[in-house]
Amino acid sequence: MSIMRTKTIEQTLREGDEPEYQLKKQLTALDLTVFGVGVVIGAGIFTVAGRAAHDLAGPAVIVSFVVAAVCCGLAALCYAEFASSIPVSGSAYTFSYASLGEIVAWIIGWDLLLELMLGASVVAQGWSAYLGVFLDRLGVSIPEAVAYGSSFDLPAFVLVAILTVLVSIGIKESMRVNLALVALKVFIVLFVIFAGVGYVNTANYTPFIPDAAPVEAKTTWKAPLIETVFGLSPTAYGVTGILAGASLVFFAYIGFDVVATTAEEAKNPARDLPRGILGSLLICTVLYCATALVMTGMVRYDKLSSEASLAKIFTDVGKPEFATLISAGAVAGLTTVVMTLLIGTSRVLFAMSRDWLLPASWGRINRRTGTPLKITIGVGIFVALVAALTPVGELEYMINIGTLTAFFLVSIAVPALRRRRPDFKRSFVVPFSPFLPYLSAAICAYLMLTLPLETWVRFLVWMALGFIIYFAYGYKRSRLSGNPNPDTDALPSLTST
Ligand code: ALA
Repeated sequence: MSIMRTKTIEQTLREGDEPEYQLKKQLTALDLTVFGVGVVIGAGIFTVAGRAAHDLAGPAVIVSFVVAAVCCGLAALCYAEFASSIPVSGSAYTFSYASLGEIVAWIIGWDLLLELMLGASVVAQGWSAYLGVFLDRLGVSIPEAVAYGSSFDLPAFVLVAILTVLVSIGIKESMRVNLALVALKVFIVLFVIFAGVGYVNTANYTPFIPDAAPVEAKTTWKAPLIETVFGLSPTAYGVTGILAGASLVFFAYIGFDVVATTAEEAKNPARDLPRGILGSLLICTVLYCATALVMTGMVRYDKLSSEASLAKIFTDVGKPEFATLISAGAVAGLTTVVMTLLIGTSRVLFAMSRDWLLPASWGRINRRTGTPLKITIGVGIFVALVAALTPVGELEYMINIGTLTAFFLVSIAVPALRRRRPDFKRSFVVPFSPFLPYLSAAICAYLMLTLPLETWVRFLVWMALGFIIYFAYGYKRSRLSGNPNPDTDALPSLTST
């Protein structure tokens, strides 16, 4: 049995049609775009943008946002080509199964689980922090023993529990709640831009790119890998600061790829998935750049709190009531991020279970809800416990490395699949292939090198765990192994739970 075994595209599409694994097809291009914007706009713009401007890029943080957008835009083109030609649940995992083979697919699937599950837990804690700030402004306080930062973060736990119930009920229902919250979140970001523009002082834009300045050296463990490898001395600002800022604000764009995890639930995936993926990315890029410009115009970059939220800027210009409104928007905004990441996680696990790389019974679709109920509930319990009990908030960079690895592999998979299957009809194609896909892969690789050594080591430990599970279970049980799966034989064809 070859370790490099690959599935055909036809086989992938056929398996998506098996009745016991069929998701309801009901999402439109608008649903997908809202879904994308819902997961993308979150902690990245509400807090990380201020930190990137203060610590790394100055007013030129807008350039960091553009660089990160270019990186994501190139990867998004690659995702769009795949999603339009293989509209099957599981996103990058499924694409790579049909182009680079099972082992690479497993690596990507395992990466995506890191991105999505950890992302949901981190953002749930961020949500809890914002809720505390918002309630504080209203004069209400959460008991310290169960507040954000305590040994049991109750608000984060309750949030994940409620959202798990919602996403278990059905995707269309989740989308309705999503729509309302996304509308509120976009309104708040537009509010920041339009209310803030009146407070812009153009003198704050000078110097636009502050001169590069040496910063205190971090330990090898915490320093960017690229500094350690090439023996560079750490600096802030200048051109390197802009690039370092780009790898930080990259976090703000994470999530548009999650649109591809719902490929099978789209009514017309070939047309609507590229629209959903590229549309949500475009909307977020415009909003982010405008917000960054207003933010650094309102308060001088070195006066921005590095913990800054957009709310804080309004307190600084003497408008605390606006700050309350913005905290409320952040609470609403982060809710949709967590919800969408929960859906994404369950769809990736669903795809892996349908391929029998994980127990096949996990992925059965519940007849009434049209969702993979067992997986959704399992993911919810896991994420709720991680968010409530662990200091996961410090692991943001782990999400970046998981995502960048998936982007990197999807980028190189595009030319690979074109070579393998030139005959296959693609309703969306990346222009200038293979140049653009390879450029995308190169930028992702560069951004990964800017991450700290500790993140790399944690990431490698996670990957090693994935390999152990694959060789102990998935490799032998996979549909491609040719072995019958005892797990599926023991089950009725459709679950009625
Ligand atoms: N892009 C998401 C955020 O900024 C993960 O919260």
